[in-house]
Amino acid sequence: MKFFADTGDVAEIREIQSMGLLDGVTTNPSLIAKSGRQFKDVIKEICGITDGPVSAEVAALDYETMMKEADVLRKIAKNVTVKVPLTVDGLRACKALSGDGTMVNVTLCFSPNQALLAAKAGAHFISPFVGRLDDIHLDGMELISEIRQIYDNYDYDTNILVASVRTANHIKEAALIGADYATAPASVLKSLVKHPLTDKGIEGFVADWKKTGQSII
Ligand code: G3P
Repeated sequence: MKFFADTGDVAEIREIQSMGLLDGVTTNPSLIAKSGRQFKDVIKEICGITDGPVSAEVAALDYETMMKEADVLRKIAKNVTVKVPLTVDGLRACKALSGDGTMVNVTLCFSPNQALLAAKAGAHFISPFVGRLDDIHLDGMELISEIRQIYDNYDYDTNILVASVRTANHIKEAALIGADYATAPASVLKSLVKHPLTDKGIEGFVADWKKTGQSII
């Protein structure tokens, strides 16, 4: 399973990369607003940190302006993935951009049928938002299972990029289902290493090693 950092914070991205966990980055308008920086500058800097796909989202809602924005975004670096919303115009843009070799991430997916349409439009990534479904007491992971089954039934190449990840458990369940990618905040990616028994075990080993009075180097 590949991991993307879901952030516009370059310090966080460097930290995840130093842990060997970074396969790419996703951003969205809310994350760019949170960074307080110029959108294109942030995307350019991130593309200098990773060779993996870096999702940059269009701001327009109509097809023509989306295409103009996509043209600016994809010129920033060769690993820019254009992110479009799951709307009729977004799917039209996906079809056109994918047709000429641009990687497209279709975002704000909340149903299996929406995911089916994105695959038919040639999306490289579909981003189902599991956390936001859980927030309204629906089952985000059920959506991931259903999309997995549909894509496997028809051999679609579109990659399932689990988004709106809030917990380590989301990552585990997505991996068990066979999702291709997960994008998560740095805090969630860093939490994957944690287990209280690991900490307790280290404490015991450190104490016992001290008793031996030895040193390895
Ligand atoms: O990048 C899209 C998605 O991951 C947003 O997550 O936490 O705002 O629902 P969230």
